Amino acid sequence: MAGRGGSSAAARSSGGRGVVISDNWPGYSLDLFTYPQHYYGDLEYVLIPHGIIVDRTERLAKDIMQDIGDNDIVVLCVLKGGYKFCADLVEHIKNLSRNSERFISMKVDFVRLKSYHNVLIVEDIVGTGRTMKVLLNNIEKYKPKMIKVASLLVKRTSRPDGYRPDYYGFEIPDLFVVGYALDYNEHFRDLNHICVINDHGKAKYRV
Ligand code: HPA
Ligand code: MG
Repeated sequence: MAGRGGSSAAARSSGGRGVVISDNWPGYSLDLFTYPQHYYGDLEYVLIPHGIIVDRTERLAKDIMQDIGDNDIVVLCVLKGGYKFCADLVEHIKNLSRNSERFISMKVDFVRLKSYHNVLIVEDIVGTGRTMKVLLNNIEKYKPKMIKVASLLVKRTSRPDGYRPDYYGFEIPDLFVVGYALDYNEHFRDLNHICVINDHGKAKYRV
């Protein structure tokens, strides 16, 4: 996991950067963590442990709060994969807001279109960005004052012109990942860590 971003202003908003996980990152052995027994034999390794996801999400919450100022926001959760990240992000924003001078009012909704003022779209993963562009086009019809996108993960795909969300937690190699609400045919949402699925797991849950 490549660590330091090289910015001199550590406390400042991270400005659209995320933790970059390089292609040669070996991950962590599954034996170092606990995970549901029904997935034994189905995973290759842990790409991002749950604790790191939560800690990184706390910093994203801080960056988002700095950027939105005094505006109230509607947090729009893209189901189903986004629900864990969305729940943890909202919890962090609430906690940071409670412990500061500034209380941000937040309404949480799920993708379901109506008129909104300030929208924060919360996604689990952005690949080519095609899905996100369609969603943004739909939401822009309602002319909100602000639309921001936060995605836990951005996948490095072969397309260099790929869409970049305003906030993201981790940039990951072009691998299929599961856990922390990301699924493979509806399985693995109950896994806490983000892991790389193996061939056995793929065969077992293939539809
Ligand atoms: N995992 C789960 N869902 C996804 C992925 C992934 O790696 N990429 C796009 N949707
Ligand atoms: Mg998604």
